[in-house]
Amino acid sequence: EATESIPSTSTQGDIESIADNIKNGHISRIVVLTGAGISTSAGIPDFRSPTTGLYDKLAPLKLPYPEAIFHISYFSHSPEPFYAIARARHPGNLKPTISHAFLALLAKKGLLHYLFTQNIDGLEEDAGIPTDKVLWAHGNWKSQHCWKCKTEYPDDLMKRAIHNGEVPYCLKAECGGAIKPNVVFFGQSLPKEFDEKEKVVGQGDLMLVMGTSLKVAPCSTLPRLANKGVPRLLINMEKAGDFGNRKEDVCMLGPCDDGVRRLADLLGWRDELETLWKDA
Ligand code: APR
Repeated sequence: EATESIPSTSTQGDIESIADNIKNGHISRIVVLTGAGISTSAGIPDFRSPTTGLYDKLAPLKLPYPEAIFHISYFSHSPEPFYAIARARHPGNLKPTISHAFLALLAKKGLLHYLFTQNIDGLEEDAGIPTDKVLWAHGNWKSQHCWKCKTEYPDDLMKRAIHNGEVPYCLKAECGGAIKPNVVFFGQSLPKEFDEKEKVVGQGDLMLVMGTSLKVAPCSTLPRLANKGVPRLLINMEKAGDFGNRKEDVCMLGPCDDGVRRLADLLGWRDELETLWKDA
C-alpha cells in the first residue's frame, strides 16, 4: 500500500504535535469537514480538480456554466445533463476509502466530535461512522421527489433511471415535473440542522479538513469558526480556504489516503486502521 510519508508544510505546530496531543488526551473533540477529495480513490471524481474533476468534463453537455448541472433553476427546465452524469456520482456499491475508515476509527475511539460532509455519496455510513455524528450538508441520494409538486418517487424506479441515465418524471401525469434526488442544489438551502450544528465547530479542540477546495459556502466558512488557538489540520492535494493564516494551522498536502496513513502511523493505529478498512 502507499506508505510514502507526505511532507507536512506547517507553520507553528506540526503533525507530530497534533498526534502527540491526540495520544495524551489533550485533543479529544475532533470536528471534521470533508469534501469530494476523500471519495476520489473510491472511484467518484471530484468537481474542480483540473482534467479529472467533473466540471472539466461537461463541455459536451453545452451547459451555460459547469455548476448549472446542479442548479435548481437549470434543472427545472433541463434535467437531462444531471441524469447524464448521475450514475458516475452515485455510490452504487463502491467501497469507502481508508480516509472514511480513519474517520470511523476516530468515532470508535470516542474522538469524533462531529463530521460535516459536503459529499452525497453516503460512504461515511458504509464506513461505519455513526450517523448521529454526521451532517450531510448537501443531502444524499437516499430519497427523491418531484422537484415541482414534491410527490415522492419510488427508490427502485429511481435506481433504474440513474443506471440508464434517463430522466424520471413525476407519477402525477398532470404534473410532469422531473424527479430530483434529495441533494442540495445550488439555489436551494441546506438542511435546517446546519444552522443548529454550526456552533459545534466552536466546541472542537481540533478542526480536521479533508478533500475539499473550500470554494462553496456555507460549508467553506466552517473552518473559520474553530476557536482561536485550536489547531486546524488540512489534508488535501492543495492549500484551501484561509489555511496558513493561523499559526496553529498545519497542512499535509497530498492524497488524503496517504495523509491518514501517516497520521495513523504516528498514533500507533496503523494496523487497526487497515483492518477496519478491510472489513468495511
Ligand atoms: N487526496 C487529497 N485531496 C484531493 C484528492 C485526494 N485523493 N482528490 C481531490 N482532492 C482535492 C482537490 O485538490 C480539491 O482541493 O479535494 C478538493 C476537491 O474540491 P472540489 O472538487 O471543489 O470538491 P468539494 O470541495 O467537495 O466541492 C464542494 O461543490 O460542486 C459542489 O455541491 C458540490 O459538495 C460539492 C461542493
